[in-house]
Amino acid sequence: MGSPALKKALAKMAGAGIDEVAVETFAHYFRLLEHGETGMVPESTIDPVDIDRLDDVEVDDETAREAVRQTAVIKLNGGLGTSMGMDRAKSLLCVRRGLSFLDIIARQVLHLRSEYDAPLPLLMMNSFRTSADTLTALQRYDDLAVDGLPLEFLQNKEPKLLTKDLSPVSWDADPDLEWCPPGHGDIYTALRGTGLLQDLIDQGYRYVFVSNSDNLGAVPDARVAGWFAQSGAPFAIEAVRRTPSDRKGGHFARRKADGRIVLRESAQTLPEDAKALADLDRHRFCSTNNLWFDTHAMKEALDARDGILGLPLIRNVKNVDPGDPSSPEVVQVETAMGAAIEVFEGARLIEVGRERFVPVKTTNDLLVLRSDVYEIGQDFVLDPVAEVPFVELDGDHYKLVGQFDKHFPEGAPSLKEATSLRIEGDWTFGRGVRVQGDVALEGGTGRRVEADEVLTGTRSG
Ligand code: UTP
Repeated sequence: MGSPALKKALAKMAGAGIDEVAVETFAHYFRLLEHGETGMVPESTIDPVDIDRLDDVEVDDETAREAVRQTAVIKLNGGLGTSMGMDRAKSLLCVRRGLSFLDIIARQVLHLRSEYDAPLPLLMMNSFRTSADTLTALQRYDDLAVDGLPLEFLQNKEPKLLTKDLSPVSWDADPDLEWCPPGHGDIYTALRGTGLLQDLIDQGYRYVFVSNSDNLGAVPDARVAGWFAQSGAPFAIEAVRRTPSDRKGGHFARRKADGRIVLRESAQTLPEDAKALADLDRHRFCSTNNLWFDTHAMKEALDARDGILGLPLIRNVKNVDPGDPSSPEVVQVETAMGAAIEVFEGARLIEVGRERFVPVKTTNDLLVLRSDVYEIGQDFVLDPVAEVPFVELDGDHYKLVGQFDKHFPEGAPSLKEATSLRIEGDWTFGRGVRVQGDVALEGGTGRRVEADEVLTGTRSG
């Protein structure tokens, strides 16, 4: 069965009544971890990928409409936004006019349903930490749930492991913190384990569109659905061109050995390949985590592998209490949803516009989203009205959502005329501030930018 540490972890999971396949999946990744598996993808084993652009593809209206009618939408909502200091779902944050990410997602879906006369079920994949809050927030939409399907399914949980010996950590101060979700790659295990994949198939849903709840650009667009349906592919991911700020992040490539598309993350890159990783002309595309799969193909792939897709392992090192850097260091064994692309022969990529990729990973991203750079119309789709400016808020004063909100108590400034905004130090904004061109605020302590001011150039505190 394995080492004493693994035995302890498995006993803990069994004691918590966790689904058997989820326990076996955890054991599979644990063994890889114990054997020092690094999941490296050397440059010599891959080629760059070349992909079609959605804009160049013909999709007729009827194909698009038919595809949306057979699509179910899943939002990944199990993460906690710990990098922004949150311990709840990031999607509860307000985007604007009192509407949260969840409100906008719900309204995007409701709008498409009426436009296409499609059932378009929306399913949230929550973790044990995000479920209750999310369901409460969605209660106001009585017509959101679709007959025969739940509004959410829960992903599995697994023990956090002490880095020193990989045994499951005990944390009496808050035993909930002894557990973590196993990354969004757990979606496949959870869909199969809860029986939901079978339910979707039984109810005639052929396609599933999955995306992050922190990406409001990820609308289940009929044209993309139509493209996926007519491609006949078992699995596809929407890609965007990498930009200089994506240089350090992962990218798609084609594995020489079998021609399959793979995702290579920076953590899977050898030091000697760092230059190739950063080469934006060689590796041109990165993932939006907007993903499509064929429910029948997914079931077949999972059944053929007894429920374990065998995705590359991600070793995520954190503190058992993410808010307390002095708490013991733990490893979280995770997998990423998009990595499943390598499991499917005939998987496809499609290049989409940046408007389908508006992730909120930091408060810099949140400021842009709350500003007037995007208009949100009747269909609740984000419409960029200007180039997205480069925003950099200093880590000491704005990194955590609580700090950030104190500095922008009246909402975000206007950024549609801005090229860049860099803020260093403690600056609080009044209502209706406009940022124009390249703006830098430096070295302030207790400084204010007054209501309706127009900011240009550099200002020192
Ligand atoms: P991220 O890892 O980018 O976001 O996940 P996060 O977990 O919310 O934020 P940090 O890393 O703690 O700061 C991308 C998407 O995947 C979901 C998240 O909710 C987010 O929508 N997710 C992540 C899950 O659903 N389950 C997981 O186990 C991890």
